[in-house]
Amino acid sequence: MLNRITNINEIIERGSLPRHIAIIMDGNGRWARKRLMPRTMGHRAGMGSLKEVVKACDELKISVLTVYAFSTENWKRPDSEVQFLMKLLVEFLHKELNELHENDVRIKIIGDYSVLNQECQDEIRRALATTCNNQGLLFNIALNYGARAEMVEAIKKIVDGVISGEISRDSICENTVASFLYTGGVPDPDLLIRTAGELRLSNFLLWQLAYTELWVTTRLWPDFTREDLFAAIRDYQQRDRRFGALTDLEKDDKSV
Ligand code: FPP
Repeated sequence: MLNRITNINEIIERGSLPRHIAIIMDGNGRWARKRLMPRTMGHRAGMGSLKEVVKACDELKISVLTVYAFSTENWKRPDSEVQFLMKLLVEFLHKELNELHENDVRIKIIGDYSVLNQECQDEIRRALATTCNNQGLLFNIALNYGARAEMVEAIKKIVDGVISGEISRDSICENTVASFLYTGGVPDPDLLIRTAGELRLSNFLLWQLAYTELWVTTRLWPDFTREDLFAAIRDYQQRDRRFGALTDLEKDDKSV
């Protein structure tokens, strides 16, 4: 217990915490295969890691956590796995909602959940309505989410706005595009964590990740703990973020 508090305090005291953390939770299938279990058991174990990470982000007073739970491409998986993931989502929201609400967490879905089954939609709407006025951690769950689809939808809305005269063509800028994404009004992720070692973005938040710091671990998602989250944040706190500019030291360097 003392160790948990020490770690949290040490990280908070260092300052420069990421405001927004995004996570690609990968490796559930490999975790299960290593144990000769069905893939679904990996997803269930992954739900445990997710609970722990949400709790830790809340304790650290991180403003936004966005997790990739189901992509637009995940429909290509066997129907039984897709159905299991949907059931797990319902179970997660059902079991965790009270505690999340008590901790002032605001749940948001990014992605088109209107195509999910009725039970999922009902559970999602209940979670959104219950937590909509909360002021603590914004917990974005990316569900049936794909960054390219998100951008296509944003473009359509902007075109509609131009046609109706609400948006003038020449006023369109990067902020306009950003405001029409699911994450409109939310700061871009400062830190992207990807588990299970793959070095790709997998159609996740492509616009929003333009200047995000990447942190990849070979740890499989069901094995990911709050200590791993702390390790990622500690690493982030040592990064030199320049957003394409120079550091003050480099600006003063007359040798260039
Ligand atoms: C990727 O692992 C993981 C997913 C596609 C699903 C993520 C879901 C969870 C972590 C379950 C809990 C989430 C909620 C919102 C209840 P993979 O199956 O691609 O693993 P592999 O690459 O090792 O096969």
